[in-house]
Parts: sequence; structure tokens; C-alpha cells
Amino acid sequence: MPDRHDLPAGFRWGVTTAAYQIEGAAEEDGRGPSVWDTFVTRPGVIRGGHTGAVACDHYHRYPEDIALMKGLGLDGYRFSIAWSRIQPVGSGPVNPAGLAFYDRLVDALLEAGITPLPTLFHWDLPQALEDEGGWLNRDTAYRFADYAAATAARLGDRIPTWITLNEPFVHTVFGYAMGIHAPGRALMFEALPAAHHQLLGHGLAASILRERGLEVMLSNNLTPVEPATSNPADLTAAAAYDALHNRLFTDPVLLGRYPDLSALGVPDDIFGAIRPGDVDLIHTPGLDGLGVNYYNPTRVAAPTDPSLPFDLVDIPDVPHTAFGWPVVPDGLRRLLVGLQELYGTALPPITITENGCSVDESAAPDRLRIDYLATHLDALATAIAEGVDVRGYYTWSLLDNFEWAEGYHQRFGLVHVDFETQKRTPRASYAWYRKLIATHRALHSG
Ligand code: FCB
Repeated sequence: MPDRHDLPAGFRWGVTTAAYQIEGAAEEDGRGPSVWDTFVTRPGVIRGGHTGAVACDHYHRYPEDIALMKGLGLDGYRFSIAWSRIQPVGSGPVNPAGLAFYDRLVDALLEAGITPLPTLFHWDLPQALEDEGGWLNRDTAYRFADYAAATAARLGDRIPTWITLNEPFVHTVFGYAMGIHAPGRALMFEALPAAHHQLLGHGLAASILRERGLEVMLSNNLTPVEPATSNPADLTAAAAYDALHNRLFTDPVLLGRYPDLSALGVPDDIFGAIRPGDVDLIHTPGLDGLGVNYYNPTRVAAPTDPSLPFDLVDIPDVPHTAFGWPVVPDGLRRLLVGLQELYGTALPPITITENGCSVDESAAPDRLRIDYLATHLDALATAIAEGVDVRGYYTWSLLDNFEWAEGYHQRFGLVHVDFETQKRTPRASYAWYRKLIATHRALHSG
């Protein structure tokens, strides 16, 4: 069995973060409010009443954080750009002070020998656009393309590859269908126009970026779906869930068509959102790489409530993270091999743009995180040996940070953060990751 020491020469190592989860400085240098600034003020939606107003104070402490990255020997750093720093109300003139922050960040990364890999949208829509309907409003896709153009005009000379969206599945379902993330709308399947408009925004932005000679990726949360049993009703439910979680976001981009969503009660035109030519706008620009965020598989059963198309059930008999997510490393191999089988030559090279786990400090030492990373990298090496083209691995996350509805309760960092003092303390997993990267590099040098 191949393992993590068999990853190919040129394989790229990184870490991932996101703006609202680490930056803080919510009101500094002209940053406008985003949907997350608004959502966190709603009583009861965030565990502990936490907010990202200060987070890891990365906005001021980025030199220290880049030094930590340099210490790991990283090839790349995936971060996200806060749209409302660039355009405080989501449209119109850019805010020079906001762009200047990312200018400084990018220059400092390059100075440290680390390639910046920005994501343009990691869920923090400018509140002014939400006031106009957010991603339910088709116009937001065009505003996103304008923002992408303005940002690339300033930073594109130093950044070769751009990720348009982070996890449109999670943003649509948690943010617009269930209301547990910003903007907190609970529209169930009628949320899906928000998915189409994000994909349209991706397509419009991708064509602008590629015209500038830049490479484009899209990162989604993908999950291998397993039916609870081999009963036909469970198989049907699993297929419906797979269409919603995975194929809805990958088929239009890679194949130029939407999957059949009729089992979810969703009409072919996604409640009138799809206009003629839209799917071409999403598909035609093409993709230089697919970003895969993998955390766990999903087990699906036939619904007990007949008004729903499926039930999600736990995967027993495997370890679970502090978040309660099942730990199934082979799920990553199955996911990757499944993508290769399904999309064949339409599948671009893959980068794992997120993978990691939260660990309960009081109950367990950092051994759990090291095991999680090691076993998932072994599964990744096996997928590569089985023919999947995977170019790199970015772990979530460099630092403990604001974990959305969980506030500061889930600790995903290679580096511990004391949120009272902002002191950063590298964990055992930090030293482990550094050694793994150094060993891989030594094996392939010369
Ligand atoms: C992903 C998100 C990321 C982080 C991890 C734990 O779904 O993209 O921001 O919250 O989960």
C-alpha cells in the first residue's frame, strides 16, 4: 500500500484559512459590514455568543503568521479575500486601504517563498448586497465578477492561481436553506437559486481571470455518499443527496449540465433561476484545477418524514472528531477515485484545498490530529497510485479560529491560539507537518 511518503515529486504543501475566521479588524481601513457581521449579532445563533470581530487579529499579526508558515516550509497559502474590504458595499469604487492590506500580505508571502492562493468568496458577502437579496438575486453574480476583475487587476501580477468560490454547497445549504450560517435564511430547497447564482458568478469571474492569463479553480466541500443499506429506498435517497451535495456544483462546471434534481422537488430551471445560456457561461470558461475540501463521508437513508427526500445518519463504529464528524480516511480515496470515474477526461487536476479536524484539548492530546492528517495523506497517496491526478494538499487550518456557528469552540489549528492574549503556540502536529514536508522535499531534491 502506498503511503504519504510516496507522494510524487512536485506535490505542493499548504495550509488554508479564511478572512472572517482569522482577520478581525472588522471596522478598520474602511471595511464594510458583511453578512457575518450582521448574523453574529442575532441572539442564540453562535455558540457562546462569539463573533469574528477580533478573531486571530491576523489583520495586524500577519507577519507573525507568515513566519509560522515559513517555519513549516510551505509551498502555498490558501486564504480568502474579504470582498467588503475591497468594495465596502459590494459594488462601485474599490477601497484603496482594503486592497493595500492584501498587497502587503501577498508581498510578505512572496518574500517568505510562499505562493499565495486566494479565494475570492469564502461566505462573507457584503451586507449591502444581501440587502438586495444576496445570492438569491441574479445581479450578485455580476457584482462578483466586477469585484474579481478589480482585485485581479491589482494582485494578478503576483498571483498565478485564483479560487473563485469556497464551498457553494455549504454556503447555500447552511446559509440559505437551513439558516444556521449567515445570512440565516431558511428556505429549504427554494434556496437553490443561490447555488445557481454563485455558479454563474464563478463562470463570469473565471472568464475574466482566464482572459488575464490567470489560472482558475473552484473549491467545494465534496463527500462520498454511502447508502445506509442496499435497500432500493436507501439507494434512491443516497442518489438524491449526492445530486444535491456534489453533482449540483460539479456537473455544470465540468460537464455543462445540471444533474436531475427532480427527486428533491426542484424543477429543471431551479425555480426559474436558470436563463438560456447560463450553463454555458458556467461551463465554457473551463477550470484549471478542482479544489476538493474533504472532511467526512455522508451516510444516507430513506426518509422517516415523507416530506423530506432523505435522512442523514451517523456512521457508527469509527472515531469522531470534537465536532462529532466521523473519521474515515478511506472516504477521501473513494471520493477521489469516484470523481475520476464519473468525470474522466473532463476532470482537471485536483488540489485538496481543505482537510483537517478539530480536537477537544481537554480530552485528547494532539496525537488525534496527527493521526487524522497522516491517515488522510496515506489515503490520498493511494488515490494517486490508483490514477487520480492530485497536485497538492492544504490542511485546515494554520490557526485555531472562529469556526462559524461554533464560535471559538472547535480548534482546527496546527497552532494553538489563546484568544485572550493572541499568543500563538505551535502544537505537536505543527512539528509533525514540518517534518513530513521536509522529508518529502529531501526525497525528491536533486
Ligand atoms: C469548511 C469551511 C471552513 C472551515 C472548515 C472546518 O466547511 O470551508 O471555513 O470552517 O469547514
